[in-house]
Amino acid sequence: MIIKKISLQNFRSHELYTLKMGDETTQILGENGWGKTSILEAVYLALQGKSFRAVDREIIRRGAEFYRVELDFSDGEKVVVAYEEGGANKTFLVKCLKFRRLPKKYKYPVVLFLPDDLHLVGSSPTRKRDFFDKFLSQFSPQYALNLSRYNKALKQRNELLKQENCNSNSLFSWDVMLAKYGCEIREARTKLISAINSRLTEVYQGIAKNKDTVSVAYEPYIGEVDESKYLRMLSLDFERDRALGHTNFGIHKDGYNFIFNGSLADGSASRGEVRSLVIALKFIEAEMLEKELLKKPLVLLDDVFSELDETRQEALVSNFKDNQIILTSVG
Ligand SMILES: Nc1ncnc2c1ncn2[C@@H]1O[C@H](COP(=O)(O)OP(=O)(O)OP(=O)(O)O)[C@@H](O)[C@H]1O
Ligand SMILES: [Mg+2]
Repeated sequence: MIIKKISLQNFRSHELYTLKMGDETTQILGENGWGKTSILEAVYLALQGKSFRAVDREIIRRGAEFYRVELDFSDGEKVVVAYEEGGANKTFLVKCLKFRRLPKKYKYPVVLFLPDDLHLVGSSPTRKRDFFDKFLSQFSPQYALNLSRYNKALKQRNELLKQENCNSNSLFSWDVMLAKYGCEIREARTKLISAINSRLTEVYQGIAKNKDTVSVAYEPYIGEVDESKYLRMLSLDFERDRALGHTNFGIHKDGYNFIFNGSLADGSASRGEVRSLVIALKFIEAEMLEKELLKKPLVLLDDVFSELDETRQEALVSNFKDNQIILTSVG
């Protein structure tokens, strides 16, 4: 699938914008604040069903009442997303069919590389969890669903914990959900990291042109517990949770670390090493997406290409030589 044209209407700062593209890499140049990331956001939205950075009402150009995105493909097909102010009026038009949400079969895989990703190694546990959650959610809508159910249950439980008359019985139904989804999420994360690690050193060495070994360490907060042990741990923590007003135990506390030649990367890895590692993760993401979904992912590079040295730029270009790439740079 090749995107031939992007048309935007009232999408953030773009009142009317059209970009025609060839089969090869498309570069979008513009000053800071011109609206480059917004164009990638629009493409992502039309292919994945939602933005990677905001909710719909924030996207409508200030003062306008709707936004519209159209992608035209080389085979004559198109996707149109339209959203009107005031809520429930979002529609996806694909192959002359209208949907409120983009159905799974019409989603198209995207490897998105944001400037912030370059700082993944030294970033907060939340940011790292978010990175791998997004990675997993694209392969597995079930994972995305489990995570959203877990987060809703966690929010409800935390709200109850803040109430005066809270007791462990009133939390039970939420605890059951946290245990069920928590165990499934832990298992999916374990499998993902093991799949990544089976490729990471080789892919990394191809980029960094050295013999270093690298891996990701998944550190589940909950350890190897089954659902019933998970439930017990939640109830054991009850008094403490009530005093703190939030849930201490669970997969929302999981951590990830990066290991270079057997040592923790945080603080010790060089900037170049960190960058090669993040690029390697993106290559593996593309590889896994293609294997799973049998489609060559579209690659969106926001402000990262010009940040990289020549060796890493070449690695990116040669790895993605058969993928369509849209990249932005300040200029
Ligand atoms: N809903 C909106 N309506 C109008 N303008 C908006 C809206 N949302 C964001 N903007 C404007 O769009 C611009 C940001 O767009 P975007 O992030 O795409 O820019 P950019 O070219 O990627 O910038 P940078 O180079 O700094 O990353 C800002 O000027 C912001 O004020
Ligand atoms: Mg930007």
